[in-house]
Amino acid sequence: MSSSIGIGVIGMGWMGTVHSRSYNQIKPRFPESRVFPQLVICADDVAARADEAKESLGFSRSTTDWQDVIRDPDVDVVNITAPNFLHLDMVRQAAATGKHIFCEKPVGRSPQETAAIVQTARDAGVLTWVGYNYRWAPVVQHARQLIADGKLGRITHYRGRFFAGYASHPEGVLSWRFQREAAGSGSLGDLMSHVTDMAHMLAGPIKRVIGNQATFITERPTPQPGAGTHFSVGTDGPKEPVTNEDYASALVQFENGAHGTFEVCRVIQGPKCQMAFEIHGTEGAIHWDFERMNELQVFTTDGTHDGYTTIQSSPAHPGHIHFNPGPAVGLGYDDLKVIEVYHFLQSIANGKQGKPGFAEALAVGNVLAAIVRSWASERWEKIID
Ligand SMILES: NC(=O)c1ccc[n+]([C@@H]2O[C@H](COP(=O)([O-])OP(=O)(O)OC[C@H]3O[C@@H](n4cnc5c(N)ncnc54)[C@H](O)[C@@H]3O)[C@@H](O)[C@H]2O)c1
Repeated sequence: MSSSIGIGVIGMGWMGTVHSRSYNQIKPRFPESRVFPQLVICADDVAARADEAKESLGFSRSTTDWQDVIRDPDVDVVNITAPNFLHLDMVRQAAATGKHIFCEKPVGRSPQETAAIVQTARDAGVLTWVGYNYRWAPVVQHARQLIADGKLGRITHYRGRFFAGYASHPEGVLSWRFQREAAGSGSLGDLMSHVTDMAHMLAGPIKRVIGNQATFITERPTPQPGAGTHFSVGTDGPKEPVTNEDYASALVQFENGAHGTFEVCRVIQGPKCQMAFEIHGTEGAIHWDFERMNELQVFTTDGTHDGYTTIQSSPAHPGHIHFNPGPAVGLGYDDLKVIEVYHFLQSIANGKQGKPGFAEALAVGNVLAAIVRSWASERWEKIID
């Protein structure tokens, strides 16, 4: 038997609208779902954004005060898609009312805030979810299964990267992402969080890291308050300093003996959204790149091919059939968010914490904390759980 669950969304920028559209897609895409979301209330401190979201996405109410979402008796799930500096306070208040929480990565501004958030939700006993959406590409889930089935043998090498061009224009405006006070870290929290979660899912826990960082574009145009996105390009106005890193990297050693590298950058020229991994084992290898998200490159030493084979996303791979009945009729970014929201809702229906929840965000935070420590110590740093 299915039931209805009330959703409140806070922060109606890029992610708030994507999450809301995803909740609206559950009924048509996953008719077997045991819970169906109702969009109850959305909040944004920019009134026009809240009003527009209400009209276009079908919320019953909108507000400029995010605490209205938490207080609303019809809201069962608080969906946090606001800038990072608000995550801690919002989770604290949502958890205090016993509501389930979906918080976007990086879950707070720093690993310390992530840990505080995780503890708060644990103490309250609420179910949680985190937006590590790249996990949900059907061929990535296929890769996970191939590795779990031992098709690559023992994992020896792992290279994870997220090369994004969203900030590569030197006149790209100084949105909250570039300000330590609002975002916390830069590419580390924004992009390395995805790379680390993916590596955890595919290759398991990490033992130690040594990292590096750089800021290539040191000042950016002041944005117009309440207008534009972090993709906006400024004009001739004043500039302010960028206060967190554009680039972060790490040498990585896994608990299972694999070695590798993580590298992320938000200002690189060439790649646009290259969230990618290359994994090698004693009996094969796998490559995946979000820029070609419906393709997986697989090589095995079983003698069938002396080279990589391209596997196209197909109904045989987890999630694909909910979007298209045919092979190589590909999915897109927003579809990964629909799959993600579906899994979150099933965890609520089952009353059982699913993955990735706040525990996975804490595991990521522990790796990011070790990378930050290594920036200062200039030595290998162990992951401290
Ligand atoms: N999983 C992913 O792939 C992914 C992608 C992008 C962003 N994110 C995460 O999602 C979150 C939001 O990012 P975004 O790109 O949507 O940012 P955004 O700037 O597009 O949207 C943030 C929204 O929050 C609103 N806001 C700010 N202060 C508020 C307040 N006090 N009350 C209510 N609303 C407020 C802003 O007006 C804006 O509309 C961040 O934590 C980010 O790291 C995740």
